[in-house]
Amino acid sequence: MMNLNETLENLRGIYQAAKFDLEDCNSNPELQFDFWMENAIKAHCDEPNAFVLSTVDKNNRPHGRVVLLKGISQNQFVFYTNYDSTKSQEMEANDRVSLTFFWLPLARQIRIEGKVSRVSSETSDDYFQKRPRGSQLGAIASPQSKKVSSREELEKLFLEVEKKFQGTEEIPRPANWGGFAVTPDYFEFWQGRSNRMHDRIAYEKDGQGWKLARLAP
Ligand SMILES: Cc1cc2nc3c(=O)[nH]c(=O)nc-3n(C[C@H](O)[C@H](O)[C@H](O)COP(=O)(O)O)c2cc1C
Repeated sequence: MMNLNETLENLRGIYQAAKFDLEDCNSNPELQFDFWMENAIKAHCDEPNAFVLSTVDKNNRPHGRVVLLKGISQNQFVFYTNYDSTKSQEMEANDRVSLTFFWLPLARQIRIEGKVSRVSSETSDDYFQKRPRGSQLGAIASPQSKKVSSREELEKLFLEVEKKFQGTEEIPRPANWGGFAVTPDYFEFWQGRSNRMHDRIAYEKDGQGWKLARLAP
C-alpha cells in the first residue's frame, strides 16, 4: 500500500508555462476568458470546458461539483443540468455561484463569480436537440441527485424511457432539464510560475467597466 499522506506531501508540480502581466491582459475579462479557453482547446487539454460549479445552500453550506460549459452568450456562461437536482435547488435559493476552470498543461486557473438564472426554454430546447440520443434518454431517465436503490434500478429507468421513445425521432426536452446562465461580476486569471510566485490578475466589475488588480500568489 502507498503511504498516501507522505506521497501527497511530496507531490510538487513545477509551473513555469508562461508569464501573465497586467499589460498582457485584455481590458475585457470575457475576451480574456475566450483567449485562454481557445488556448486550452488548442493545447488539447482534457475536458477543457469542465469547471467546478460552487453553490451555497440555504443553510450557508457550500457545495461544489464539475459541470460542462456549453456556451457563452451575451457575456453569460451557460451550462445544462436537471432543474430538480440538488444544485438547482441551491441556485434557486441563492443565485450567487462561482465557476473554477483548471487547465493543468497550461498551469492556468480561472475563477469566476456572479449571479445565475435560468436560460429561456427555447435555448434549452435548442441545445437538448443537439445532444446525442443516449444523453437525451439519460436526462429523462435519471432523477438526478435522488437516492436510488441500485444500479439495476437506474438501468431499468433507462430501458423504460428507451422503450417509450422507440420509433420517436425527435425526443422532446423534459421540463425539468435545461440551462442556467451566469452573469459574472468577478474574474481571476491565475498563471502558474516558478517558486510559487504565480501571476494573479483580478477583474472587479466597476459600473459598466472592470477594475484590474494584481494579487499576491
Ligand atoms: C467531467 C464531468 C462533467 C459533468 N458535466 C455535468 C453537466 O454538464 N451537467 C450536470 O448536471 N452534471 C454534470 N456532471 C455531474 C455533476 O458533477 C454532478 O454529479 C451532478 O450534476 C449532480 O450534482 P448535484 O447533486 O449537486 O446537483 C459532470 C461530472 C463530471 C465529472
